Amino acid sequence: MEKKWSIRLIRFAAIFGVIGTILGSKMSGDMDYSLRPIHAHILLVGWLSVFAWGIFYKVYTVKYKKLVSIHAITAMLGALGLTFGMWMYNLNPFNLNETFVMILFIVGGTLLLLAFALFALITFLTEDSK
Ligand code: HEM
Ligand code: HEM
Repeated sequence: MEKKWSIRLIRFAAIFGVIGTILGSKMSGDMDYSLRPIHAHILLVGWLSVFAWGIFYKVYTVKYKKLVSIHAITAMLGALGLTFGMWMYNLNPFNLNETFVMILFIVGGTLLLLAFALFALITFLTEDSK
């Protein structure tokens, strides 16, 4: 179970890495830095954090398999939700309702917070604690 989620998380992270660096290149080319925090979170949360979680599941065996699925899904939804929500909230490119974009941002951020909290718990529930 961990190993299946490991490669899924790593693939998800790799795609975020590509998107984040394309965004960075676009910011540099356009000399427009309004996307800076979105670029930063896509890479630090979507690429680095999710990649680290993926590697963790390759290395460790977790006692409660259900928790691994819940964490991995929350991690992916949180990374996507936070960055998409931040983009909509900061720039609102489609002129959506302000309350709606704020809720989107809050939901994304909360999911990500939950993923971090779940992961902290999971580190104490491994079988091979060498
Ligand atoms: C093609 C590669 C990349 C390009 C062209 C690029 C470009 C940029 C640019 C133009 C900025 C804004 C700088 C400013 O406002 O003065 C920035 C900020 C940032 N980048 Fe990248 N970046 C790249 C890759 C990465 C990677 C791989 C990471 C992390 C894994 C990263 C993390 C960050 C962070 C955290 C910030 C915000 C820094 C701050 O708050 O001062 N970037 N990047
Ligand atoms: C619940 C999760 C999170 C929320 C709601 C959140 C929110 C924010 C906000 C509102 C900012 C200010 C952006 C701006 O200047 O417009 C920020 C900046 C930043 N955050 Fe987060 N963040 C979260 C998680 C993280 C994580 C997990 C990392 C690193 C792994 C991170 C790294 C950063 C960095 C480097 C900046 C400065 C970026 C810049 O200057 O453009 N954040 N964050």
